[in-house]
Amino acid sequence: MSSELNAGLDRVLVLEVTRVTEAAAIAAARLRGTGQEKAADKAAVDAMRSELARLAISGTVVIGEGEMDEAPMLYIGEKVGSGDGPQVDIAVDPLEGTTICAKDMPNSLAVLAISDKGGFLHAPDMYMDKIAIGPGYTQGVVDLDATPADNINALAKAKGVPTSEISACILDRPRHAELIAAVRQAGASVRLIPDGDIAGVIWTTDPEETGIDIYLGSGGAPEGVLAAASLRCIGGQMQGRLLSANDAERARVESMGISDVNRKYQLEDMASDDVIVSATGVTDGSLLDGVRFRGDFAETESIVMRSHTGTVRRVKTTFRAIGSRYIG
Ligand code: FBP
Repeated sequence: MSSELNAGLDRVLVLEVTRVTEAAAIAAARLRGTGQEKAADKAAVDAMRSELARLAISGTVVIGEGEMDEAPMLYIGEKVGSGDGPQVDIAVDPLEGTTICAKDMPNSLAVLAISDKGGFLHAPDMYMDKIAIGPGYTQGVVDLDATPADNINALAKAKGVPTSEISACILDRPRHAELIAAVRQAGASVRLIPDGDIAGVIWTTDPEETGIDIYLGSGGAPEGVLAAASLRCIGGQMQGRLLSANDAERARVESMGISDVNRKYQLEDMASDDVIVSATGVTDGSLLDGVRFRGDFAETESIVMRSHTGTVRRVKTTFRAIGSRYIG
């Protein structure tokens, strides 16, 4: 393959991008449980941005903290990196699960994905309807346009189990009341999560460990792209459709170059090129441990994935404090 990410530098970038999510996670973790959502998010953004500046890339943020006029840093279109290396697109969620971090509840993460230019769907900050399952199933066994009952039945049949052994992960929101009832009616169980649907999608890739077979429901579109990038590395299927709620949102979709606002995106449409994804735990969760502060040290756990080889690394890092910084 001729892409720049496959020209050798990519293998170095794998560990480099981990430094970026590690820094964001440590910064956010200092504010865990303080109720300060905005401060924790800002700390993660600041740390991620300064760590990105040290990376030998010419990066452009395509999924970030918002439009330039609404986000001072890591806004869509911002140039990041030292400017010396390959031209790449960057998708970030410096603190996925700001509320769960502020409440010190499970599964908040710092997440970053990197791809060759044009590798990510430029998803606006709006809702996306999502469905995802892990690897090992025939393509198309579940579908965003099928009913919840049809999807649960098809998945149970493909897995060779009764529907009572299928478990779905769904964000606990009033808008999902009908979906939750329909999944339970089909015989499956539902794990409701308060926030954090990137982790929810990733859980489907290891049902034996996580107990989750399928992710269903609507959540943030940027999180959808980051989840799709993760599945591109680990394996699995995902579909998404932007849910533009009004004329302003439809106009926003069109302004981002998307002509069919109702398009059903396949995983490969959302993450279309080779990607590297890194996620570091902020609070403890079933995917990753959160940051531990022990005296002069901080410990992090990350998962780093590379689609080109399908390699999934778990990285545990110990940082030493020098002044008010942890040096990695
Ligand atoms: P934040 O970190 O931006 O708070 O997002 C958390 C999250 O739960 C995402 O994982 C999810 O995609 C989205 O919010 C769902 O949005 P909403 O809270 O509006 O249902």
